[in-house]
This record gives sequence, C-alpha cells and structure tokens, in this order.
Amino acid sequence: MVQLNVNGRLRDCDAEGDTPLLWVLREQLGLTGTKYGCGIAQCGACTVHIDGQPTRSCVRPLSSLSSKEKIVTIEGLSADATHAVQKAWNELDVPQCGFCQSGMIMAAAALLKAKPRPTDADIDAAMTNICRCGTYNRVRAAIHLAAGQLQRKSIAITIQTEGGAA
Ligand code: FES
Ligand code: FES
Repeated sequence: MVQLNVNGRLRDCDAEGDTPLLWVLREQLGLTGTKYGCGIAQCGACTVHIDGQPTRSCVRPLSSLSSKEKIVTIEGLSADATHAVQKAWNELDVPQCGFCQSGMIMAAAALLKAKPRPTDADIDAAMTNICRCGTYNRVRAAIHLAAGQLQRKSIAITIQTEGGAA
C-alpha cells in the first residue's frame, strides 16, 4: 500500500511497484480523464503533472512515487474547468474526437507556467503530444490565447495590488 498525493488529496493505492501511474489513476482512483494511447511515452495522451512537470504517466512506475510528489491530473487542473487553458480550448473549439486533449491541455498548462509568453517555436518544442485528428493549429492558437488571458490577469492583479498598497 502506498499513499499518493493526487489533486490535493492523499489517496491509498494498492498495486505492484511496476504498475504505471496511469493505471493507478484510471483503475484504482477512477480518474479516467487521463488516457492511454501508446504506453511507451510517445503520444502524450497520459500526461499529468508531477510537481508541476508534465509527465507521461504510462511509463512512471508506482514504486518511484510517494505522498511527497504532488500529482495533478486533468480533473484537478481547476475546480470547474476554468483554467485559462481550458477556457481557451473551449473558445476555439480545439478538440475533435477529444482523445488526446486532456494530455494536450496538461502539457499546455505546464508550458505556460514555465514560459508565460511562448513563441510558436517554444510551443512546437514543448508540445510533442500526438493528435490523430490533427488539431495542432488550433492547439497552438489556443495556447497563444491562454497566454494572453493569463498575462492580462497578472497585469490586473499587479494593478490591484499596487492600488491597494497606495
Ligand atoms: S500513453 Fe503515455 S505517452 Fe502514450
Ligand atoms: S482530437 Fe482526436 S486525437 Fe486529438
């Protein structure tokens, strides 16, 4: 038995140490938003955040994790799907079949945290997720849209803070 910190909650998990995190999330914890695509770290459908880093959960064994790492899945990215990336995805109707999209969103959210104003080249370098439906252009546009929204939010917070301090 091992405890994992998933979406801000400690969860008991009982599986062999070599069980990939993906299957623990899906089958033991019922968090089925994280998808299985290839199982060999190639497609990105299984992307979650571990301590803020985008991680392909299909190749991350349970034995490498404890309650110390903060794991965030698509279900925990925001309480009500209002993360800027999720909003931009909705606004631009990014998904087609949708299968790859939770992994795409998790990769995009991690990218914007590391690089708030990514260039097209930054996006192409970071977003190595595979989409069978070819949504790549909309993914890129949505990341730029989310980046702009996050920047406006941070400027508004700075103005509010400075206004409050004056
Ligand atoms: S299922 Fe993990 S990268 Fe494809
Ligand atoms: S939206 Fe269908 S695989 Fe990406």
